[in-house]
Amino acid sequence: MSKPQKTILSGIQPSGRLHLGNYFGAIRQHLDFQHKGNAFYFIANYHSLTSLQNGKQLREYTLDVALDYLALGMDPDKCTFFAQSDVPQVLELTWILGTLTPVSLMEKGVSYKDKVAQGLSPNIGLFTYPVLQAADILIYHSDIVPVGADQKQNIEISRDLAARFNRIYDGEYLTIPEPFIVESVATVPGIDGRKMSKSYDNTIQIFETGKTLKKKVMAIQTDSTPLEEPKNPDQCNVFALIRLFSDEKKQQEIRSMYTSGGYGYGHAKKELLEQIKEYFGEAVERRAELSKNPDTVIDMLKEGGRKARERAEAVMEPIREVTGMVHHYTIQETP
Ligand code: ADP
Ligand code: TRP
Repeated sequence: MSKPQKTILSGIQPSGRLHLGNYFGAIRQHLDFQHKGNAFYFIANYHSLTSLQNGKQLREYTLDVALDYLALGMDPDKCTFFAQSDVPQVLELTWILGTLTPVSLMEKGVSYKDKVAQGLSPNIGLFTYPVLQAADILIYHSDIVPVGADQKQNIEISRDLAARFNRIYDGEYLTIPEPFIVESVATVPGIDGRKMSKSYDNTIQIFETGKTLKKKVMAIQTDSTPLEEPKNPDQCNVFALIRLFSDEKKQQEIRSMYTSGGYGYGHAKKELLEQIKEYFGEAVERRAELSKNPDTVIDMLKEGGRKARERAEAVMEPIREVTGMVHHYTIQETP
């Protein structure tokens, strides 16, 4: 099948308020890619169910993620933006792919292994999380999947499952996707110096403002080198964050202030605070405007869902056929 434009796809879980790690590791790349092809971006609410079992909260977070993306510059006229659960065909494909997935492949899953190592008992949803992710990707014939470095394994699994399906059913039914990973974005540290993550309660949220933002920035852990002494920027959590917001020249300027002494961590934190405010200032205002009309945002997600279902249905049809599934009814598309 010849395709005029590359299909780009990515998803993000609505399992909490989005933070700087999510932005620099994933969201920024999603926004860059929306102009580079036929982009599909979705809110992975089925995936979030593996860790968040509270309907009211999950619905709230879903709307939050939609508002965040729109405020940050996602253009729903340029790309298809929707909620995963609005495309039931994804679950159909998940089942079919699951029948081709060796248990041993899932046992190698990083998130699954992490849970087991922590002594927790993972649910089947978490165990088969990568199969659902593969279905997300394959159901739109995605060519390119921009993701953070930690998603490499899941994309490999998607490639593997697409190739298996094509081999077993002897045809080019599924497109083998390519990951797009910005390796240069190192893991963004949280205020305690560990990886910034919702699960560690160490995040600075993208839309944090005022006193809470200040409090978080001031709480970033540093060592106890006195103000007047030279400091090593490469071992400083504050500098690691400053780098994300600054161009090369600015980075050099601040770097030399660190190494020459007389520049305290308090100064660096003030600098970072100003940078965050400036970088996200417009987005904060846009988000406040958008959140006055949540129904408009929900309508936009619905429209995105309609477009995504259309595409997913076209990909599913030959798959049902070749796998021998018979459906003696027609799915009626409601407006
Ligand atoms: P969290 O750890 O907060 O639950 P997720 O696992 O939902 O975040 O991550 C969503 C996306 O954001 C992933 O693609 C991931 O690569 C990226 N990401 C999350 N935290 C960081 C971080 N600290 N540094 C860089 N990228 C991150
Ligand atoms: N697992 C991804 C994350 O935690 C979210 C996700 C779900 C995703 N389905 C996807 C990302 C499909 C890319 C493609 O960040």
